[in-house]
Order: sequence, then C-alpha cells, then structure tokens
Amino acid sequence: MNDNIIVEWDDRYSVGIPLVDEQHKELIRLTNSLYESCLAGDEAARVSFKEAIQGTVEYVKFHFGAEERILTNVHYPDFALHKKQHEEFVKQVLGEVKSFEEGKKFVPNVFVRFLRDWILTHIALSDKKYAEYIFELKKKGALVKG
Ligand SMILES: [Fe+2]
Repeated sequence: MNDNIIVEWDDRYSVGIPLVDEQHKELIRLTNSLYESCLAGDEAARVSFKEAIQGTVEYVKFHFGAEERILTNVHYPDFALHKKQHEEFVKQVLGEVKSFEEGKKFVPNVFVRFLRDWILTHIALSDKKYAEYIFELKKKGALVKG
C-alpha cells in the first residue's frame, strides 16, 4: 500500500453482490481522496477536504439507500437494525462535518481513520451477514433476480 492511501480494496471485503461491491470500492476511493486532502496542511487542503467531505456524505447516503432497497426487497429479518446502524453513522458523520465547518475541534486525520474503520467493520460484520442471507435465498431458488 503506498503512502498516499489509507485503505485498499481487497477481495476479502467482497459481499458477493457486484453492485454493492462496486459501491464499497467507491467508498474506499472517497476515503482515500479525503486522506490525500489531509496530507497537505494548508488552506488549499482545507478547501479540497471540504469538497471531498461533502461528496463523501452524499455518496454514503446514496449507497445506504441502495443497500436498504435491496434489504427491503428480500425482506431481510435484521433490516431495522441494519438501517439503524446506517442512520447512526450518518448522524455521527454529519456531526463531525458540522464541527469541521464551524472550525471547532476537528482532526481530519482522525476523522478519515474513523471513516475507514467504520466502513471496513460494517462490511465485515453487518454487510456480510445480509449477503449470507441473500446467498441462502438464491441457493434455495427463492430469488428470481438480484
Ligand atoms: Fe450496510
């Protein structure tokens, strides 16, 4: 892994659903571009961080929406819990972004690490769990598509 990135896609993160994997890869790309913005400490870095952070928040919401639609379609039993995890994460991120915009105590580096750790943990524990459920449905022939 080179010094300009903080996280790298690995096939072990795959949930076996191509659409979701592509979106997770994009989240990783966005996390890396936020990290890159952190590397320089000047005003320009602040501006690029601000732009990158907004793009990331938008993409995170888009991705969660896509995942939640999939989970609704398959009547995922743990849907409520999964959605709650998404909501709490968005709330936390928006809180951090607000601190950043108001010039309050905010450490970009710490934020990016939090983002990375949350994404990887969420994929490994929660997303893999619904992926397994969907896999079982497919195996039983209970899903026509998706
Ligand atoms: Fe998720």
